[in-house]
Amino acid sequence: MQWHPVLKSLHWLMAVLLLAMLAMGFTMSRLAHAAATTGDYSVTLLGLSIFDAFQLHKSIGVLLFALLVARGVIRFATKAPHHAHLKPIERRAAALVHLGLYCLMLTMPITGWLLASSSPLGIPTIVFGLFSLPHPIHPSTGAEMLFGWLHFLGGCALGALAAMHIAAALKHHFVDRDDVLTSMLPALLRLRERRKP
Ligand code: HEM
Repeated sequence: MQWHPVLKSLHWLMAVLLLAMLAMGFTMSRLAHAAATTGDYSVTLLGLSIFDAFQLHKSIGVLLFALLVARGVIRFATKAPHHAHLKPIERRAAALVHLGLYCLMLTMPITGWLLASSSPLGIPTIVFGLFSLPHPIHPSTGAEMLFGWLHFLGGCALGALAAMHIAAALKHHFVDRDDVLTSMLPALLRLRERRKP
């Protein structure tokens, strides 16, 4: 059995965007702190000024939140594939990692939004240059520190869980040779069948 086609598309689109957001978030944050120390704001990230990189990061974060809501609705309205061959311990470990990933996909945009809102710099959040996202809290150094730490730790945890998730998927495909990864990526099934002697 396969995952619902829309869920498959959302899974791969969000996976690419989340990994890009982690790389971008850690890099732009380091660049911005270095710029604040040296006073040289001319540094760029993939041709984007620090200001534009922050706006792009915040915009993709808002998009990821909207995609997560859509994914949650479709996930509960459709049937997930049942992998009967999995041991109870594997099933429990997978459920725990998936729960962690969902929690972090939900909390990362929220802590990022509160972080941007609490910054004493008062920079607006303009989503893809289309509209300004309201900031729900007042600027405060203490709140900025708190949400900065939560956003940073969440990013580290998301990176660690994503690495475990990817390693498990690759083990299922290449070592166990079962249908766990192919239920999310059927193209691999065709490739595997073509390689059969
Ligand atoms: C799933 C969505 C998101 C992911 C995975 C993500 C990830 C990250 C990561 C890993 C960092 C680097 C943290 C550090 O090194 O201290 C970062 C920084 C940042 N993020 Fe996000 N983020 C997301 C959404 C958002 C959203 C929605 C906003 C705002 C609306 C936002 C605002 C920021 C800001 C302002 C920084 C820079 C913090 C600093 O000043 O160093 N993020 N993000």
